[in-house]
Amino acid sequence: MSKCVLVTGGAGYIGSHTTVELTAAGYDVVIADDLSNSDICGVEGVRAITGKNIPFVEMNCLDKEAMDKLFTDYKIDAVIHFAAFKAVGESVAEPLKYYSNNIESFVTLLSTAARHGVNNIVFSSSATVYGQPDVLPATEQTPRKPATSPYGNTKQMCEDILRDTVAASATLKGIALRYFNPIGAHPSALIGELPKGVPNNLVPFITQTAAGVRECLSVFGDDYNTPDGSCLRDYIDVVDLAKAHVTAVSRMLDDKNKERYEIFNIGTGRAVSVLELVNTFEKVNGLKLNYKIVGRRPGDVESVWADTTLAATELGWKAERTLDETLKSAWEWEKRVRGL
Ligand code: UD1
Repeated sequence: MSKCVLVTGGAGYIGSHTTVELTAAGYDVVIADDLSNSDICGVEGVRAITGKNIPFVEMNCLDKEAMDKLFTDYKIDAVIHFAAFKAVGESVAEPLKYYSNNIESFVTLLSTAARHGVNNIVFSSSATVYGQPDVLPATEQTPRKPATSPYGNTKQMCEDILRDTVAASATLKGIALRYFNPIGAHPSALIGELPKGVPNNLVPFITQTAAGVRECLSVFGDDYNTPDGSCLRDYIDVVDLAKAHVTAVSRMLDDKNKERYEIFNIGTGRAVSVLELVNTFEKVNGLKLNYKIVGRRPGDVESVWADTTLAATELGWKAERTLDETLKSAWEWEKRVRGL
Protein backbone atom coordinates (compact mmCIF):
# COMPACT_ATOMS: atom_id res chain seq x y z
CA MET A 1 0.00 0.00 0.00
CA SER A 2 1.25 3.50 -0.79
CA LYS A 3 2.55 5.60 2.06
CA CYS A 4 0.70 8.82 2.77
CA VAL A 5 2.46 12.17 3.18
CA LEU A 6 0.76 15.16 4.78
CA VAL A 7 1.94 18.36 3.09
CA THR A 8 1.08 21.45 5.14
CA GLY A 9 1.16 24.56 3.01
CA GLY A 10 0.71 22.31 -0.02
CA ALA A 11 -1.21 24.93 -2.00
CA GLY A 12 1.79 27.27 -1.86
CA TYR A 13 4.82 27.67 -4.06
CA ILE A 14 7.19 24.95 -2.85
CA GLY A 15 4.43 22.80 -1.35
CA SER A 16 2.57 22.47 -4.65
CA HIS A 17 5.70 21.45 -6.57
CA THR A 18 6.59 18.97 -3.84
CA THR A 19 3.11 17.43 -3.95
CA VAL A 20 3.57 16.83 -7.68
CA GLU A 21 6.93 15.10 -7.19
CA LEU A 22 5.68 13.01 -4.25
CA THR A 23 2.76 11.83 -6.36
CA ALA A 24 5.06 11.04 -9.28
CA ALA A 25 7.17 8.95 -6.87
CA GLY A 26 4.09 6.91 -5.88
CA TYR A 27 3.16 8.53 -2.57
CA ASP A 28 -0.39 9.44 -1.59
CA VAL A 29 -0.57 13.06 -0.49
CA VAL A 30 -3.02 15.06 1.56
CA ILE A 31 -2.70 18.83 1.43
CA ALA A 32 -3.57 21.03 4.41
CA ASP A 33 -3.52 24.77 3.78
CA ASP A 34 -5.44 27.80 5.05
CA LEU A 35 -4.93 29.64 1.74
CA SER A 36 -3.81 32.72 3.68
CA ASN A 37 -0.89 33.28 1.34
CA SER A 38 -1.79 30.91 -1.48
CA ASP A 39 -4.68 30.17 -3.77
CA ILE A 40 -6.88 27.18 -4.49
CA CYS A 41 -5.46 27.29 -8.02
CA GLY A 42 -2.27 25.81 -6.52
CA VAL A 43 -4.28 22.69 -5.63
CA GLU A 44 -6.07 22.71 -8.98
CA GLY A 45 -2.73 22.95 -10.79
CA VAL A 46 -1.36 19.99 -8.86
CA ARG A 47 -4.48 17.95 -9.69
CA ALA A 48 -4.20 18.87 -13.38
CA ILE A 49 -0.52 17.90 -13.57
CA THR A 50 -0.89 14.62 -11.67
CA GLY A 51 -4.31 13.66 -13.01
CA LYS A 52 -5.21 12.73 -9.41
CA ASN A 53 -7.87 14.15 -7.15
CA ILE A 54 -5.36 14.91 -4.37
CA PRO A 55 -7.29 15.53 -1.14
CA PHE A 56 -7.21 19.10 0.13
CA VAL A 57 -8.23 20.17 3.63
CA GLU A 58 -8.69 23.91 4.16
CA MET A 59 -7.47 24.50 7.69
CA ASN A 60 -5.04 26.47 9.79
CA CYS A 61 -2.29 24.48 11.47
CA LEU A 62 -2.91 26.40 14.71
CA ASP A 63 -6.34 24.78 14.92
CA LYS A 64 -5.74 21.84 17.27
CA GLU A 65 -9.12 20.20 16.64
CA ALA A 66 -8.78 20.42 12.88
CA MET A 67 -5.26 19.03 13.14
CA ASP A 68 -6.44 16.14 15.27
CA LYS A 69 -9.25 15.38 12.82
CA LEU A 70 -6.79 15.44 9.93
CA PHE A 71 -4.59 12.80 11.57
CA THR A 72 -7.69 10.77 12.40
CA ASP A 73 -9.18 10.96 8.90
CA TYR A 74 -5.95 10.07 7.09
CA LYS A 75 -3.43 7.38 7.94
CA ILE A 76 -0.39 9.60 7.67
CA ASP A 77 3.13 8.14 7.47
CA ALA A 78 5.19 11.32 7.12
CA VAL A 79 4.71 15.07 7.22
CA ILE A 80 6.38 17.85 5.27
CA HIS A 81 5.72 21.13 7.06
CA PHE A 82 5.75 24.15 4.73
CA ALA A 83 2.92 26.15 6.26
CA ALA A 84 4.44 29.39 7.55
CA PHE A 85 4.61 33.12 6.96
CA LYS A 86 7.70 34.19 5.05
CA ALA A 87 7.93 37.96 4.56
CA VAL A 88 11.04 39.27 6.29
CA GLY A 89 9.92 42.94 6.50
CA GLU A 90 6.44 42.06 7.75
CA SER A 91 7.97 39.86 10.45
CA VAL A 92 9.94 42.85 11.77
CA ALA A 93 6.74 44.94 11.89
CA GLU A 94 4.55 42.16 13.32
CA PRO A 95 6.75 39.74 15.26
CA LEU A 96 3.96 38.12 17.25
CA LYS A 97 2.10 37.25 14.06
CA TYR A 98 5.22 35.33 13.03
CA TYR A 99 6.00 33.75 16.38
CA SER A 100 2.41 32.67 16.79
CA ASN A 101 1.84 31.34 13.31
CA ASN A 102 5.24 29.79 12.61
CA ILE A 103 6.13 28.46 16.06
CA GLU A 104 2.77 27.52 17.55
CA SER A 105 1.63 25.75 14.41
CA PHE A 106 4.80 23.64 14.34
CA VAL A 107 4.39 22.74 18.01
CA THR A 108 0.76 21.80 17.35
CA LEU A 109 1.82 19.69 14.40
CA LEU A 110 4.54 17.88 16.36
CA SER A 111 2.33 17.13 19.33
CA THR A 112 -0.54 15.93 17.15
CA ALA A 113 1.84 13.76 15.10
CA ALA A 114 3.24 12.26 18.33
CA ARG A 115 -0.24 11.46 19.63
CA HIS A 116 -1.08 9.70 16.39
CA GLY A 117 2.22 7.79 16.23
CA VAL A 118 3.53 9.63 13.16
CA ASN A 119 7.30 9.54 13.35
CA ASN A 120 8.67 11.20 10.22
CA ILE A 121 8.82 14.98 9.90
CA VAL A 122 10.50 17.16 7.28
CA PHE A 123 10.87 20.83 8.18
CA SER A 124 11.15 23.58 5.65
CA SER A 125 14.17 25.58 6.82
CA SER A 126 16.23 28.23 5.08
CA ALA A 127 19.76 29.36 4.34
CA THR A 128 18.70 32.47 6.20
CA VAL A 129 19.86 30.63 9.36
CA TYR A 130 23.50 31.15 8.24
CA GLY A 131 23.23 34.95 7.95
CA GLN A 132 26.52 36.10 6.35
CA PRO A 133 28.80 33.08 6.81
CA ASP A 134 32.47 33.77 7.57
CA VAL A 135 33.54 31.00 5.18
CA LEU A 136 31.83 30.10 1.90
CA PRO A 137 30.32 27.89 0.63
CA ALA A 138 28.19 27.20 3.70
CA THR A 139 28.20 23.60 4.93
CA GLU A 140 25.69 22.23 7.40
CA GLN A 141 28.41 22.70 10.05
CA THR A 142 28.73 26.42 9.31
CA PRO A 143 27.70 28.16 12.53
CA ARG A 144 24.27 29.78 12.48
CA LYS A 145 24.41 33.54 13.00
CA PRO A 146 21.98 35.34 15.29
CA ALA A 147 18.81 35.88 13.27
CA THR A 148 18.31 39.41 11.94
CA SER A 149 14.49 39.16 11.72
CA PRO A 150 11.67 37.39 13.56
CA TYR A 151 11.12 35.40 10.35
CA GLY A 152 14.72 34.15 10.40
CA ASN A 153 14.40 33.50 14.11
CA THR A 154 11.35 31.27 13.58
CA LYS A 155 13.39 29.12 11.16
CA GLN A 156 16.16 28.72 13.75
CA MET A 157 13.69 28.07 16.56
CA CYS A 158 11.74 25.48 14.59
CA GLU A 159 14.98 23.66 13.73
CA ASP A 160 15.77 23.54 17.44
CA ILE A 161 12.24 22.48 18.37
CA LEU A 162 12.50 19.58 15.94
CA ARG A 163 16.00 18.63 17.17
CA ASP A 164 14.91 18.66 20.82
CA THR A 165 11.66 16.80 20.17
CA VAL A 166 13.55 14.10 18.28
CA ALA A 167 16.09 13.87 21.13
CA ALA A 168 13.32 13.39 23.68
CA SER A 169 11.57 10.69 21.66
CA ALA A 170 12.58 7.10 21.12
CA THR A 171 11.07 6.90 17.65
CA LEU A 172 10.70 10.34 16.05
CA LYS A 173 12.84 11.21 13.01
CA GLY A 174 13.29 14.71 11.66
CA ILE A 175 15.01 16.28 8.67
CA ALA A 176 15.50 20.03 8.26
CA LEU A 177 16.11 21.09 4.68
CA ARG A 178 17.86 24.45 4.40
CA TYR A 179 16.79 25.94 1.10
CA PHE A 180 18.90 28.53 -0.61
CA ASN A 181 16.94 30.76 -3.06
CA PRO A 182 14.09 28.80 -4.69
CA ILE A 183 13.08 30.09 -8.14
CA GLY A 184 11.31 28.96 -11.33
CA ALA A 185 8.13 27.05 -11.98
CA HIS A 186 6.87 23.65 -13.11
CA PRO A 187 7.59 23.05 -16.83
CA SER A 188 3.83 22.71 -17.46
CA ALA A 189 3.38 26.33 -16.25
CA LEU A 190 0.35 25.06 -14.30
CA ILE A 191 1.90 25.89 -10.93
CA GLY A 192 4.43 28.52 -9.87
CA GLU A 193 5.07 31.33 -7.43
CA LEU A 194 2.08 33.60 -6.85
CA PRO A 195 3.11 36.40 -4.52
CA LYS A 196 0.35 38.55 -3.07
CA GLY A 197 1.03 42.28 -3.48
CA VAL A 198 4.48 43.63 -4.35
CA PRO A 199 7.02 40.80 -4.50
CA ASN A 200 9.96 40.95 -2.09
CA ASN A 201 11.98 38.34 -3.90
CA LEU A 202 14.08 38.94 -6.96
CA VAL A 203 12.68 36.57 -9.59
CA PRO A 204 8.98 37.37 -9.11
CA PHE A 205 9.92 41.05 -9.32
CA ILE A 206 11.82 40.39 -12.55
CA THR A 207 8.98 38.45 -14.17
CA GLN A 208 6.37 41.02 -13.11
CA THR A 209 8.55 43.79 -14.53
CA ALA A 210 8.92 41.89 -17.80
CA ALA A 211 5.12 41.44 -17.85
CA GLY A 212 4.58 45.18 -17.36
CA VAL A 213 3.01 44.81 -13.91
CA ARG A 214 5.98 46.65 -12.35
CA GLU A 215 7.65 49.54 -14.08
CA CYS A 216 11.25 48.95 -13.14
CA LEU A 217 13.36 46.47 -11.19
CA SER A 218 15.62 47.99 -8.55
CA VAL A 219 18.92 46.16 -8.23
CA PHE A 220 19.87 46.61 -4.59
CA GLY A 221 23.53 47.61 -4.61
CA ASP A 222 26.46 47.29 -7.00
CA ASP A 223 29.17 48.18 -4.51
CA TYR A 224 29.47 44.84 -2.72
CA ASN A 225 32.78 43.03 -2.56
CA THR A 226 31.79 40.61 -5.34
CA PRO A 227 32.98 40.24 -8.98
CA ASP A 228 30.35 42.62 -10.43
CA GLY A 229 29.45 44.42 -7.20
CA SER A 230 25.96 42.88 -6.83
CA CYS A 231 25.05 40.24 -4.23
CA LEU A 232 25.75 36.55 -4.75
CA ARG A 233 23.11 33.90 -4.07
CA ASP A 234 22.53 30.23 -4.81
CA TYR A 235 19.34 30.01 -6.90
CA ILE A 236 17.75 26.56 -6.71
CA ASP A 237 15.12 25.39 -9.17
CA VAL A 238 11.83 24.69 -7.41
CA VAL A 239 11.31 21.31 -9.14
CA ASP A 240 14.79 20.19 -8.05
CA LEU A 241 13.99 21.45 -4.56
CA ALA A 242 10.70 19.53 -4.59
CA LYS A 243 12.58 16.33 -5.49
CA ALA A 244 14.89 16.85 -2.50
CA HIS A 245 11.81 16.54 -0.28
CA VAL A 246 10.92 13.21 -1.87
CA THR A 247 14.39 11.86 -1.12
CA ALA A 248 14.16 13.13 2.48
CA VAL A 249 10.80 11.41 3.03
CA SER A 250 12.00 8.15 1.45
CA ARG A 251 15.16 8.24 3.55
CA MET A 252 13.10 8.23 6.74
CA LEU A 253 10.42 5.81 5.59
CA ASP A 254 13.08 3.35 4.36
CA ASP A 255 15.08 3.77 7.58
CA LYS A 256 18.14 4.97 5.69
CA ASN A 257 18.83 7.95 7.91
CA LYS A 258 22.11 7.92 9.86
CA GLU A 259 20.88 10.10 12.72
CA ARG A 260 17.30 10.63 13.84
CA TYR A 261 17.70 14.40 13.33
CA GLU A 262 19.50 15.51 10.19
CA ILE A 263 20.07 18.77 8.32
CA PHE A 264 20.77 19.18 4.60
CA ASN A 265 21.61 22.19 2.48
CA ILE A 266 19.51 22.30 -0.67
CA GLY A 267 21.13 24.48 -3.31
CA THR A 268 23.16 24.20 -6.49
CA GLY A 269 26.57 25.03 -5.05
CA ARG A 270 26.88 27.81 -7.62
CA ALA A 271 27.04 31.53 -6.76
CA VAL A 272 25.11 33.78 -9.17
CA SER A 273 25.06 37.58 -8.93
CA VAL A 274 21.91 39.67 -9.20
CA LEU A 275 23.20 41.22 -12.44
CA GLU A 276 24.10 37.80 -13.88
CA LEU A 277 20.60 36.59 -13.07
CA VAL A 278 19.02 39.63 -14.75
CA ASN A 279 21.23 39.22 -17.83
CA THR A 280 20.50 35.50 -18.07
CA PHE A 281 16.77 36.16 -17.78
CA GLU A 282 16.99 38.66 -20.66
CA LYS A 283 19.09 36.32 -22.81
CA VAL A 284 17.07 33.12 -22.46
CA ASN A 285 13.73 34.85 -22.88
CA GLY A 286 14.84 37.23 -25.63
CA LEU A 287 13.70 40.43 -23.95
CA LYS A 288 15.03 43.58 -22.32
CA LEU A 289 14.30 44.27 -18.71
CA ASN A 290 13.82 47.77 -17.36
CA TYR A 291 16.13 47.96 -14.33
CA LYS A 292 18.19 50.44 -12.39
CA ILE A 293 20.88 50.20 -9.75
CA VAL A 294 19.80 51.62 -6.41
CA GLY A 295 21.27 51.52 -2.89
CA ARG A 296 21.68 48.40 -0.81
CA ARG A 297 18.61 46.87 0.84
CA PRO A 298 18.92 46.93 4.63
CA GLY A 299 19.40 43.45 6.06
CA ASP A 300 20.77 41.87 2.86
CA VAL A 301 23.84 39.69 3.18
CA GLU A 302 26.55 40.09 0.55
CA SER A 303 27.11 36.49 -0.46
CA VAL A 304 25.80 33.08 0.41
CA TRP A 305 25.89 29.81 -1.43
CA ALA A 306 25.74 26.16 -0.51
CA ASP A 307 28.16 23.33 -0.12
CA THR A 308 25.87 20.56 -1.36
CA THR A 309 28.17 17.60 -0.72
CA LEU A 310 26.07 16.15 2.09
CA ALA A 311 22.83 16.12 0.09
CA ALA A 312 24.69 14.46 -2.79
CA THR A 313 26.34 11.74 -0.72
CA GLU A 314 23.55 11.05 1.78
CA LEU A 315 20.35 11.80 -0.14
CA GLY A 316 21.73 11.01 -3.59
CA TRP A 317 20.22 14.32 -4.63
CA LYS A 318 21.62 17.12 -6.73
CA ALA A 319 20.21 20.04 -8.67
CA GLU A 320 19.62 19.15 -12.31
CA ARG A 321 17.88 21.98 -14.13
CA THR A 322 20.08 24.72 -15.56
CA LEU A 323 19.64 28.38 -14.68
CA ASP A 324 18.55 28.97 -18.30
CA GLU A 325 15.76 26.39 -18.06
CA THR A 326 14.68 27.67 -14.67
CA LEU A 327 14.47 31.30 -15.78
CA LYS A 328 12.54 30.26 -18.90
CA SER A 329 10.05 28.39 -16.72
CA ALA A 330 9.64 31.43 -14.45
CA TRP A 331 8.73 33.57 -17.46
CA GLU A 332 6.39 30.95 -18.96
CA TRP A 333 4.52 30.84 -15.65
CA GLU A 334 4.27 34.63 -15.36
CA LYS A 335 2.97 34.84 -18.94
CA ARG A 336 0.32 32.25 -18.19
CA VAL A 337 -0.76 34.04 -15.00
CA ARG A 338 -1.04 37.34 -16.90
CA GLY A 339 -2.66 35.82 -19.97
CA LEU A 340 0.23 37.00 -22.20
C1 UD1 B 1 15.08 36.47 1.18
C2 UD1 B 1 15.05 36.66 2.66
C3 UD1 B 1 15.33 35.33 3.29
C4 UD1 B 1 14.28 34.31 2.85
C5 UD1 B 1 14.27 34.23 1.34
C6 UD1 B 1 13.09 33.39 0.88
C7 UD1 B 1 15.75 38.99 3.05
C8 UD1 B 1 16.82 39.88 3.57
N1 UD1 B 1 16.03 37.65 3.06
O1 UD1 B 1 16.39 36.04 0.80
O2 UD1 B 1 15.30 35.48 4.70
O3 UD1 B 1 14.57 33.05 3.39
O4 UD1 B 1 14.11 35.54 0.77
O5 UD1 B 1 13.14 33.22 -0.49
O6 UD1 B 1 14.71 39.44 2.65
N2 UD1 B 1 17.10 41.92 -5.07
C9 UD1 B 1 17.15 43.03 -5.88
N3 UD1 B 1 15.97 43.63 -6.22
C10 UD1 B 1 14.75 43.18 -5.80
C11 UD1 B 1 14.71 42.03 -4.97
C12 UD1 B 1 15.91 41.43 -4.62
O7 UD1 B 1 18.22 43.50 -6.29
O8 UD1 B 1 13.73 43.78 -6.13
C13 UD1 B 1 18.37 41.24 -4.72
C14 UD1 B 1 18.63 41.19 -3.23
O9 UD1 B 1 19.37 42.31 -2.82
C15 UD1 B 1 19.45 39.88 -3.12
C16 UD1 B 1 18.93 39.00 -4.25
O10 UD1 B 1 18.26 39.90 -5.15
O11 UD1 B 1 20.80 40.15 -3.36
C17 UD1 B 1 17.94 37.95 -3.81
O12 UD1 B 1 16.91 38.59 -3.04
P1 UD1 B 1 15.61 37.80 -2.53
O13 UD1 B 1 14.99 37.08 -3.66
O14 UD1 B 1 14.78 38.77 -1.77
O15 UD1 B 1 16.21 36.69 -1.57
P2 UD1 B 1 17.17 36.85 -0.29
O16 UD1 B 1 17.30 38.25 0.15
O17 UD1 B 1 18.42 36.12 -0.58
